[in-house]
Formats: sequence, C-alpha cells, structure tokens
Amino acid sequence: MTSTPHSHLKGWRAGLLWFPDPQNPLAQHETDGLLVTGQSTDGIVRVLAIGAYRDLASQYPDLPITHWPGLCMAPGFVDLHTHYPQTDVIGSPADGLLPWLEHYTFPHEKQFSDSAYAHEVSAFFLDELMRHGVTTALCFATAHPESVDVFMAEAQKRHLRMITGKVLQDRHSPDGLRDTDTALSLRQTEALIARWHGVDRLGYAITPRFAPTSTPAQLHGAGEIAQQFPDVWVQSHVAENLDEIRWVHELFPEARSYLDVYDRAGLVRQRAVYAHCIHLDEADRRRMAEAGASAAVSPTSNLFLGSGFFDYAASDAAGLRYGLASDVGGGTSFSPFHTMHAAYTVARQRIEVQGVARPGFSLAPEHLWWQHTAGAAAALDLCGKVGNLLPGCEADFVVLNPKATPLLARRTAQTETLAEWLFAMIVLGDERLVAHTVVQGQAVSGNKA
Ligand code: GUN
Ligand code: ZN
Repeated sequence: MTSTPHSHLKGWRAGLLWFPDPQNPLAQHETDGLLVTGQSTDGIVRVLAIGAYRDLASQYPDLPITHWPGLCMAPGFVDLHTHYPQTDVIGSPADGLLPWLEHYTFPHEKQFSDSAYAHEVSAFFLDELMRHGVTTALCFATAHPESVDVFMAEAQKRHLRMITGKVLQDRHSPDGLRDTDTALSLRQTEALIARWHGVDRLGYAITPRFAPTSTPAQLHGAGEIAQQFPDVWVQSHVAENLDEIRWVHELFPEARSYLDVYDRAGLVRQRAVYAHCIHLDEADRRRMAEAGASAAVSPTSNLFLGSGFFDYAASDAAGLRYGLASDVGGGTSFSPFHTMHAAYTVARQRIEVQGVARPGFSLAPEHLWWQHTAGAAAALDLCGKVGNLLPGCEADFVVLNPKATPLLARRTAQTETLAEWLFAMIVLGDERLVAHTVVQGQAVSGNKA
C-alpha cells in the first residue's frame, strides 16, 4: 500500500464521474471506478486516489471497500445561493420580486428572531440539502444574529462545508426584521466572523440583502469589514428585476449602475457572489470578471418570479465566473437536477439584447453538471476543495441510481453517449436519483438503492 499520513482509509467502488481539469466542463466517466478516501492530520477526510477499479485496486490490497454495483459516484453538488429561512416560503405566488418580498418573505423571516424556530428550520433545511445531494451551499440567514449561530451549529454537527451570514438590512424593511442600529449590525457581523469563520469547514459571508434595504452607511461599513477580512465571503443580490433596478437608481443616483453601488462600497471583489446578475451591462460584467466576483445563476427562481433570463453568452464573453443556485424560496426546488434542467430551458430562450433578438442555444449536459459542482466551487474560490473528486478534494459525494424510477431506468438504458446519459438524468431526475449522500466519508442520507 502507498505510504500516507492519512488514517481511516476507505475504498468506494461504483461508477465514477468527475472533472479531470476543474476549470474545464469536460467530465470523465468510469463504469467501474474506485475512490480512495482517508482522514488527513487536520481531521478532514479527503480523496486520496481516483480511477478505474482495475488500475487502482492492486495498490490498496487491504482497503475496506463499499461496493455499489450499478450506481455512480459524482461530486456533491454546490448550491451557490440559497436562503434557509425561506424553506417555508417556496411556492408563494406574487406579481414579481418586490411584492413577493413584501407580502411573503419579509413577514416570514421575522420569525427567525426565535432561536428555537430557527434551529428547527436549520436542521430540516440541511437534511433536505443532503437528501438532494447538495453538500456545500452559500446561504443567507436572516437579520437576526442567532439565525446564523443555530445554522452554523447544525452544519458543524453534520460535518458540512457551509457558508452563511447575518443579513444586513437597515431600511425599507419591517419592524422585527430591520437593523435598527447600523453600527450594531456591523459589530454583530464582526462578532459572527470571529465566532464561526474557519471553524471546522464553516465559512462566513458578509451579507447585505440588496442595495434598496441598506443605507449607504451600512454598505460602506460592510465594505470596510470585507477589506479587513479578505478570505471571508460577500453575498448579495444584483440586477434581478426591472422594478428593483428603477428603485436602486432612485436611491443611488450617483452610481453608474446597480452593481456600481456595491463597487463604490468595496463589495465587488474576489469571493463576492452576486445572485441573479440578469440585467447587467457589458461594463458591469467586465468589472465583476476583473474583480474576481461571481454570479449565482438561479433559473428556477428567475422563471418563477418572472425576473428574466441570465445571459450566458455575454457572461462568457466578459469572462464572468458563474455557477448554479437554487435560490430557495424564490426558487422552486432543492433539487440540483431541477435547477440544471431550468438552466437548460433558460439558455434555450430567445432574448433581446439592446433591441436585437438573439436565438437561444443548448447548454451541454456536462457544462450544466459542472456549473453545479466544480464550476460553482471555482466561483466560490473553493476549487480543489469541493465540487470535484480529484485527489486532495474533500470527500463529499453523491451516489446516483440511474434506474431510480421506471422512466429513468428505461430512458438511461437507451443512451449511447455520456452526454445523453447525463441529460436524461438532468431532465428526469430528482432526489430519487440520490441513493446515498456521503459527507466526509460517511454515508449520511439518501434513498437507498
Ligand atoms: N432580493 C432581496 N432579497 C431577496 C430574496 O430574499 N430573494 C430574491 N430572489 N431576491 C431578493
Ligand atoms: Zn436570493
């Protein structure tokens, strides 16, 4: 056996899907693969080797092996933008973003001042993520600092890599959700960074909700904290909805664009992830790319709220990094399969850019999968840590059963290429496909095959 400083070596034998070059959306597939995992001296369980069973097995003669014939291991999904407190807001109909926030989301989020309630929802949400094969998420909490504490504690208990933050919103928000003391909201953010950022696999995100609900003082305070802590994440929403954008122009007439409001506050930088990014212009996209900021593409939310369509071609042309996100509860599903399917549907749409119609196009299945795994990890600046199964990556993965339903079994059996096989799962899949979710080398949930 190869000498290694790792302990608790385990082997996992099944089909295998991964991205040999994490920056490139080209997947490799082995029908009979072996994944070897072990615990490093820092306590984290990582991938030690990956490849065909016939090539690797002889190097690990004493390895205890879990064998799942007929199933396929793939990287745990990475959700680039979601809101755990909106678990019970899913499926609330409204005439677009602003009425949806006012009538459902803001009143609901007030309840998270109650830690016991926030605790129960955190536990449900994290279990639901894992049941759907999501092992890392960048997640909003609410304005209540306790809503971060309970979520972090529950994620820590499950050994998950999760990132969250207290929402900053000190205006245009109801009593009970609004930060009534801006300086205090910033001190609470600093205290939460000290308490949670870098503890086990947890990370903190400075979280101004969106420009209309923060005063310039709060945004600039958030930017100062961001400068002080360059490895902390920043998350917010930008350019989601046309009424929202009009409001931002009224509130910040000095800014060149909606994105520029954040930029002037020092919030456009590496490890900043902006949800939606639908109605950006070329200068905005180039600025995000140059700063190393990323877009969280949230297609089920954008379709549900009627916000518009993410422009993949313009984003690629600008070199803007992006990945997929559920945006629960504007988004309608926890399932990465539903999100990938919706992203395909969005890219197929004909869109008008500066009065000129542009035809839709077909995103490749491997590209869709990459956007929800290795691509989303790269957008989080976590390339080589999550979203892939190369040696050195953290051992979080899903075990898929392509025969999980009669229709999946029938359709996947008829595919001839990897792309066709992946696409059948994207279009027909949901959590029934996820036979097991393995977090840190422990099978934690799934619909056992
Ligand atoms: N903009 C500000 N807050 C929100 C939110 O909770 N969801 C979405 N989709 N957009 C927002
Ligand atoms: Zn959101």
